[in-house]
Amino acid sequence: MKAVILVGGEGIRLRPLTCNTTKAMVPILNMPFLEYLLRYLKEHGIKDVILAMSYLPDRIQERLGDGSELGVHLSYAVEKQPMGTGGAIKNAEVRLNEPFFVLNGDVLTGIDLTAMMSRHRKVKPRVSIALTPVDNPTIYGVVETDASDMVKRFVEKPGLEEVTTNMINAGIYIIEPSVLGYIPPSIPSMVERHLFPLLLEKGEPILSYPSDSYWIDIGTPEKYLKAHHDLLSGEASALAAYWNNFDQGVQMGGSCAIDPSAEIEGPVLIGEGCTVARWAVLKGPAVLGPRCEIDEGACVEGAVLWQDVKVGKRALLRNCIVAANCQIGEESQVLDNCVLGDNVVVGKNNKLAPEIKIWPDKRITSGTMSY
Ligand code: GTP
Repeated sequence: MKAVILVGGEGIRLRPLTCNTTKAMVPILNMPFLEYLLRYLKEHGIKDVILAMSYLPDRIQERLGDGSELGVHLSYAVEKQPMGTGGAIKNAEVRLNEPFFVLNGDVLTGIDLTAMMSRHRKVKPRVSIALTPVDNPTIYGVVETDASDMVKRFVEKPGLEEVTTNMINAGIYIIEPSVLGYIPPSIPSMVERHLFPLLLEKGEPILSYPSDSYWIDIGTPEKYLKAHHDLLSGEASALAAYWNNFDQGVQMGGSCAIDPSAEIEGPVLIGEGCTVARWAVLKGPAVLGPRCEIDEGACVEGAVLWQDVKVGKRALLRNCIVAANCQIGEESQVLDNCVLGDNVVVGKNNKLAPEIKIWPDKRITSGTMSY
């Protein structure tokens, strides 16, 4: 069985985390997100995977190669310019000769792909679309279905009075190659906005596959942080198995130096080679990437740190995301949904909060309380 993973988006909403890396390669629990997706596909017997890409393709190819290390066969369909979700699949058409999966490259989910394919084979629609429930359907495109789960209508961002369902497109499809003829070859298009509504118009059957499995798209900093919190705290525990030896306590990589006076309250994941100095506090759910250094009396709480982050004495990082190689000065605070891109240097005694985003390589000088 084949799958196409769509990894060509720029990930603008996840900036500044996606300034130097693609959304598919951002670390989740210290593992590139795409690696989780490949493990997920492999678990469902899908080992032949095409990555449809355009933005920063080299980064992915260098890291994953032919996929053999992960036990899958990876090939790449690179667009000359971003072709949208539809154009990206069209670009891989020559390699697709049987019903195949398509996955958005930013969904963290346990939707049962095996059961979805069996249902597809039984009902024989032209396309199957996985659906997931959301609390507030008015900010999404919802999918109306009939009693046999056939899709009746797509409604973009319905007003409150129009809401008939809270089921949205989960970004996972099974597509019959014959429908690729409906996608124009040389202009960008989106399956959600163009192909699927067109199929309904032409009377082509689309089956839905509603699922109440855990589902989140990691496409914004808030959801990226929430995905970590959910995985660490057990909300998405079924998925945690995709991370080797994962447990919900305190998990530590090799060669770490943790002072005995440091206070660590799980769930906390500490990457290899980290140092945690005396009286420092780590409070879960939190992640330290490899080689992070947490200095005396500093506190990291509910935060996700990428690799090589240095946190100065008595600094406080709470519910924030700090990308690679950042330095946080003594007594500085980075709080509530702040996001720091790679190589940001925050001088002493700064307070960044809430939701402040700092682009890579910026320096925040000392003493400017409240940025
Ligand atoms: P934003 O820029 O933040 O909207 O993110 P995005 O560009 O990733 O867009 P969106 O989240 O809507 O995309 C859903 C999925 O489709 C993601 O996995 C994207 O990588 C992928 N995608 C979006 N546009 C393209 C494209 O032009 N080519 C390819 N190959 N994939 C795309």
